[in-house]
Amino acid sequence: MSHKRVAVLISGRGSNMAALIEAAKDKKYPAEIVLVVSNRPDAGGLATARAAGIATEIVDHTLFGKDRAAFDGALQAVLIKHKVDIVCLAGFLRLLTPALVTQWPERMLNIHPALLPAFKGLDTHKRAIAARATVHGTTVHFVSAELDSGPIIAQGAVFVRGDDTEETLAARVLKVEHRIYPAALGLVAQGRVRVVDGRCLIDDVPVPDAAQLVPADIP
Ligand code: GRF
Repeated sequence: MSHKRVAVLISGRGSNMAALIEAAKDKKYPAEIVLVVSNRPDAGGLATARAAGIATEIVDHTLFGKDRAAFDGALQAVLIKHKVDIVCLAGFLRLLTPALVTQWPERMLNIHPALLPAFKGLDTHKRAIAARATVHGTTVHFVSAELDSGPIIAQGAVFVRGDDTEETLAARVLKVEHRIYPAALGLVAQGRVRVVDGRCLIDDVPVPDAAQLVPADIP
């Protein structure tokens, strides 16, 4: 089986990155994590990646001022240098320009801590509790030019409990993130996901009907 070469882009602790690295240790997993890129030199996840023997690169956004195109150009150069096939954003806190995103059609994934299209943007757990949502969760989607709006590949849900705080809810959702991101990347790496009319099909079945085809670890 040919393994797709994957770069994970992080800005912080990198627990989703670690989940992807863990999944990719299995020789049967269709992707290999070949690179971790951070825009912050102090991102905790960099040490985790190095300890796992994975190449790391830092593209420090503060060196580019307000020039997003120059930052994205440097990022793209690093991805090309490492011959990356698929890019996974995992807690990467930079908005990417359409010029970069369009270089990676159906090859750039993001994980968002909410059931999109609900709660795009930041502070999702706090907002879900404030909105009295009863169900909350996480979404893996292809990245499109518009923030948190690309075609949905997989979602995982949790119930919101009456006594949940932002922290307890975030912790429960995070556990689900660590399961659905490797599952979704695996499907993409196997070439089983395609986008038709802005919607993902998995093995030609539209999401969410296709959810049953995702390994049973998706709730
Ligand atoms: C996760 O909640 C992810 O959904 C969001 O940012 C957080 C990153 O956490 N995009 P980690 O760095 O993967 O631990």
